[in-house]
Amino acid sequence: DWTPESFVESTVAELKAKIGDDKVILGLSGGVDSSVAAVLLHKAIGPNLHCIFVDNGLLRKNEFEDVLESYQGMGLNVKGVNAKELFYDALKGIKDPEAKRKAIGKVFVDVFDEESKKVENAKWLGQGTIYPDVIESVSVKGPSATIKSHHNVGGLPDYMKLKVVEPLNTLFKDEVRAVGHTLEIDDAILQRHPFPGPGLGIRILGDVDAEKVRILQEVDHIFISSLKESGLYKDVWQAGAILLPVQSVGVMGDERTYEQVVSLRAVTSLDGMTADWVHLPYEFLADVSNNIINRVKGVNRVVYDISSKPPATIEWE
Ligand code: XMP
Repeated sequence: DWTPESFVESTVAELKAKIGDDKVILGLSGGVDSSVAAVLLHKAIGPNLHCIFVDNGLLRKNEFEDVLESYQGMGLNVKGVNAKELFYDALKGIKDPEAKRKAIGKVFVDVFDEESKKVENAKWLGQGTIYPDVIESVSVKGPSATIKSHHNVGGLPDYMKLKVVEPLNTLFKDEVRAVGHTLEIDDAILQRHPFPGPGLGIRILGDVDAEKVRILQEVDHIFISSLKESGLYKDVWQAGAILLPVQSVGVMGDERTYEQVVSLRAVTSLDGMTADWVHLPYEFLADVSNNIINRVKGVNRVVYDISSKPPATIEWE
């Protein structure tokens, strides 16, 4: 019978046998999957695990600093790399969603490659790939069938010449959380909603720049912290805000405004393959909307996404 304890025990033993005294490099994202993969590997090989956490400038507000601190608290050997400007430069003027994903993926690989060269004699690349990532990337093979390219699957450039180790690639998300719980990883990390690799880059529709990121971080922060404060966060599978490439007319005091529109999105799901929009209480939505419009300069209208997957997807890009 599968239990998180038996999974941890057998996986740690397998990892030890497979990796021996080699060094492993692993890219942390702040999410559940890469964090659990890192702690499992750390349990197996200790300081031979070298983690790299890249700030792509597309993370949530304060995410990089907060998460880096909690990783260090967990005893992980982790290096934080600020690469914001490289990502913003690569994204400049790009509007097409797939082109944005590819640009983000490419800079990520370049930065990661640069950093991994600094770890001498590394033989392995650790990844937090989980089972649904494996099936989704297999089932969308071929250019015409490509739905959205997940840049963190099979994203290993040849020149990195590292063998891949993916300790979670047979697990679903709830199993990953259970394993993380057994490994005594902080609930703040385990209960965290999934967050896409390209981050806010695919929640800013159209071209991305630092100012749009700042606006969306503020909006997202108000939404997510309100969900946490009202106890709704744990009932939602994933939530976030989308900055629309649309301005609308509003009125503030006696003045006409012409500012951005944001959409809020919250879904329930088992594995991200299908999803339903969450019937958040009207009072809650009203409060969040007021807070966003009153506090975030540049936004004068908030809408709520009431589409399910399929036929919509969770992300808008
Ligand atoms: P969609 O939008 O396809 O998203 O319904 C399903 C789940 O996948 C996440 N997602 C991604 N995760 N890299 C990731 O790591 C990506 O490029 C990517 N695109 C979508 C999305 O947030 C949702 O949880």
